[in-house]
Amino acid sequence: MPEIYSGEVLENRSAGELFLLTVSIGKSIDIIPGQFFLIRIDREDTVLRRAFSIFDKNDDRLSFLYRVVGKGTGWLSERKTGYELNIFGPLGNGFSLVEGRSLLVGGGTGMAPLYYLGKNINGDVDFLLGAQRKTFWSEELLSRYRDIGNLELVTEDGSSGKKGLVTQYIKNACYTKVYACGPMEMLKSIDIDVPAEVSLESVIACGFGACRGCIVETVSGEYKRVCKDGPIFDLREISI
Ligand SMILES: Cc1cc2nc3c(=O)[nH]c(=O)nc-3n(C[C@H](O)[C@H](O)[C@H](O)COP(=O)(O)OP(=O)(O)OC[C@H]3O[C@@H](n4cnc5c(N)ncnc54)[C@H](O)[C@@H]3O)c2cc1C
Ligand code: FES
Repeated sequence: MPEIYSGEVLENRSAGELFLLTVSIGKSIDIIPGQFFLIRIDREDTVLRRAFSIFDKNDDRLSFLYRVVGKGTGWLSERKTGYELNIFGPLGNGFSLVEGRSLLVGGGTGMAPLYYLGKNINGDVDFLLGAQRKTFWSEELLSRYRDIGNLELVTEDGSSGKKGLVTQYIKNACYTKVYACGPMEMLKSIDIDVPAEVSLESVIACGFGACRGCIVETVSGEYKRVCKDGPIFDLREISI
């Protein structure tokens, strides 16, 4: 069951073009990879909490990997050690785990939920991470992914790894399952035969299915709530 926690900031520092936030919530809780938390932004002009996927969990410590895109994430990036964040979760359905060899594809900030997912997969893990340029990642961040799986990088400008878009390098071969997170256009362009799950984003208000503010339309014309029915969906629900 989701609860509101007081999360004491232990660390909140830059990691390439991203920030890595670790908080202590005082007790260890069960979290399914792909679930997310809503963090309250204590600014007068910001009503809605902001959503962040779980990046990692160790005992009572939760970590989030985020990119500063606006006022909420800007405010978050300025929180110092010892600050008490108001955190609500875990929310959403989470990925379904399978045994075997998995490919985890992350576009930009979409890499965030894949680390904890990779840690929890019982089998071989291949990461395929894409970004605009090399400076998006810190070496330290990449080494964490390398510690739990094979890592291949793709950059749009070719400054690290292969050049182009991450989706160009997804191969069908030998995978039991593919998991992906990134911009909607990236997810829709994934063309594979093996089962695949994707993590979607939307503007989140309540976070537990009540307001229907986060609706997405599936290929069958059904409307689903990203916060409650998702954020993890079968690829076939969003792309033909
Ligand atoms: C389930 C879920 C999990 C997420 N996990 C992460 C994560 O692990 N790391 C991370 O960095 N971000 C994550 N996000 C996105 C994050 O919630 C937004 O970046 C954040 O809410 C932006 O807040 P802001 O106040 O800084 O931006 P705002 O000032 O509100 O907006 C600034 C810009 O960001 C865009 N934006 C705002 N919210 C979103 C959104 N939800 N998705 C895409 N663009 C948005 C706006 O359109 C605008 O262009 C997640 C979103 C969802 C729904
Ligand atoms: S944010 Fe309220 S239903 Fe999803």
